Amino acid sequence: MRITLDDVEYRYQVNTPFEHLALHDVNISMEQGTYTAIIGHTGSGKSTLLQHLNALLKPTKGRVIIGDRTIEAGKKEKALRPIRQKVGIVFQFPEHQLFDETVEKDICFGPMNFGVSENDAKQLARKAIGQVGLSEEILDKSPFDLSGGQMRRVAIAGVLAMEPEVLVLDEPTAGLDPRGRKEIMDMFYELHKREGISTILVTHSMEDAAKYADDIIIMHQGTVFKKGTPQEIFSDPEQLLDLGLDVPDTVRFQLKLQKELGVRFDHPCLNIGDLAIEIDKAMKRGNR
Ligand SMILES: Nc1ncnc2c1ncn2[C@@H]1O[C@H](COP(=O)(O)OP(=O)(O)O)[C@@H](O)[C@H]1O
Ligand SMILES: [Mg+2]
Repeated sequence: MRITLDDVEYRYQVNTPFEHLALHDVNISMEQGTYTAIIGHTGSGKSTLLQHLNALLKPTKGRVIIGDRTIEAGKKEKALRPIRQKVGIVFQFPEHQLFDETVEKDICFGPMNFGVSENDAKQLARKAIGQVGLSEEILDKSPFDLSGGQMRRVAIAGVLAMEPEVLVLDEPTAGLDPRGRKEIMDMFYELHKREGISTILVTHSMEDAAKYADDIIIMHQGTVFKKGTPQEIFSDPEQLLDLGLDVPDTVRFQLKLQKELGVRFDHPCLNIGDLAIEIDKAMKRGNR
């Protein structure tokens, strides 16, 4: 499903002394089946933006168009239900929302809430638990007897069991160790590729944004500062550093070589292999 945000504004607590303009003038579109990373400082509006994608929030101005449905101020809840079904959202620390007495019941809750029969929901739970790399024995356990990493996976399985067409991920690996982070990021990427799921990831990791995303959106002070491919976004690393944002280590290294040794590069290198090739070329050119 194509997703378009058209002149979106969002104010928290309108008409109270706490009114806060969290998003303004947001115009973006994400094509069906693409992978988009959203980066930006804390408070730049990333989570607020994500919550518009499955109608948890409705814009106070403008509209969000998901497939053939429109989310706008005043829209009835009933009209938004199909969007909630198709757009799965994995919040930060999703394991905090586990609640049922067994893993299976917890995963079945979402599908059954949308009218799937208990038997079909159990089937979906089995599929989802495999997708997140856990074995079926875990279905009978209490979610509260699991390790932190397992709880995170169970919570993600609950979202996958809804068979979403779009997956919205708000820092899904926060608090995990590096290995757990990579496993989960690779899992989402595989799902994206294999099932064609449109994926929208909020991350603090420039490495992950560069590695997985087709497009990167930089949010700054409640609006889109820049949008482009990873190559485009990281071709001006100083602009990002000036904003107080990070760049991938390889790009930082290129910048250092360029500044301190005068080495020139044609493009930002987003992985070590590419960096090695470009350094080799620069050395052969002898331009330092
Ligand atoms: N429930 C809320 N009520 C009032 N202001 C909020 C609320 N949630 C977030 N904000 C404010 O909206 C802005 C954007 O927040 P958020 O979308 O959470 O940013 P990010 O996810 O990029 O850190 C921040 O200034 C934040 O303080
Ligand atoms: Mg956030």
